[in-house]
Amino acid sequence: MPDLSVHIGRLKMKTPVMVASGTFGYGPEYADLVDLNKLGAIVVKGIARHPTRGNETPRTVEVASGLINAIGLPNPGFDGFVEQYMPFLRQYDVPVIVNIWGKTIEEYAEVARRFDEVDGVHALEINVSCPNIKEGSGLFGTDLDMFRRVVEAVRKVTDLTLIPKLAPNVSDIRAYARAAEESGADAISLINSVPAMAVDVETRKPKLANVTGGLTGPGIHSLAVKLVWEAAGAVRIPVIGIGGIVTAEDALEFLIVGASAVAVGTASFTQPTTALDVTDGIAAYLERHGYGAVHELVGTMSSE
Ligand code: SIN
Repeated sequence: MPDLSVHIGRLKMKTPVMVASGTFGYGPEYADLVDLNKLGAIVVKGIARHPTRGNETPRTVEVASGLINAIGLPNPGFDGFVEQYMPFLRQYDVPVIVNIWGKTIEEYAEVARRFDEVDGVHALEINVSCPNIKEGSGLFGTDLDMFRRVVEAVRKVTDLTLIPKLAPNVSDIRAYARAAEESGADAISLINSVPAMAVDVETRKPKLANVTGGLTGPGIHSLAVKLVWEAAGAVRIPVIGIGGIVTAEDALEFLIVGASAVAVGTASFTQPTTALDVTDGIAAYLERHGYGAVHELVGTMSSE
């Protein structure tokens, strides 16, 4: 059996396959369907300092290439999350990565500072790239100076492994990858959803209450592979590849272009065991190709 373990900052994972924020709830929602202990990590839905309700419905719409969502980051707030979900998550032998967000730089720093003291939280994914709320979050991901300031502010208040999640809709992803590294991030994850919309032609109304949303699923996979390749080439910190993973082959593409780990997102909605199936597929591939450990495959794309 090849060695599937991956180290990202201080985070130690048994496998390179985690589940992406926003597609796996806070863990309990999937616990009857998936052996949580077999996941590389669980990245929980975004948490802010205070509870929020999110957007009006409809919040999701299926399109030919995936799903467009405009959920708007509803969340139980820091206190609600720690009280309601951390006792459950602490029962498992799986790293917990909390996706954090705020409307101001101070809010990001405040929620990060509080998580620094929470037993059982292993890393923070900084959500600077949600396209679905009007203030904060999304804006921080597409303005390089704001992006740097958020990462620096969070870095100052916590020793937890920090993973900014990059937006795809920027002119040069390498600049954001480098800014993350220079600002003290331990890793980067990419991509978040791609801004998108859908219209009902009979009513001529937008299909989402928020009008626009973020596209996820198979339709964004090839775009994500290209951006992960560019980002991984620009930094020394590990990269986590996200975007439209359905099969082991999709995940292997990310590893080969330079990602050290991957996260399965939208596919968990239709097949909750996708992350575990992808893990088995990666192990089988490594064995078939004579690799002793998954890290040996990272960044091995051949140019011949
Ligand atoms: C949402 O809650 O609107 C999606 C979260 C995100 O894209 O970061």
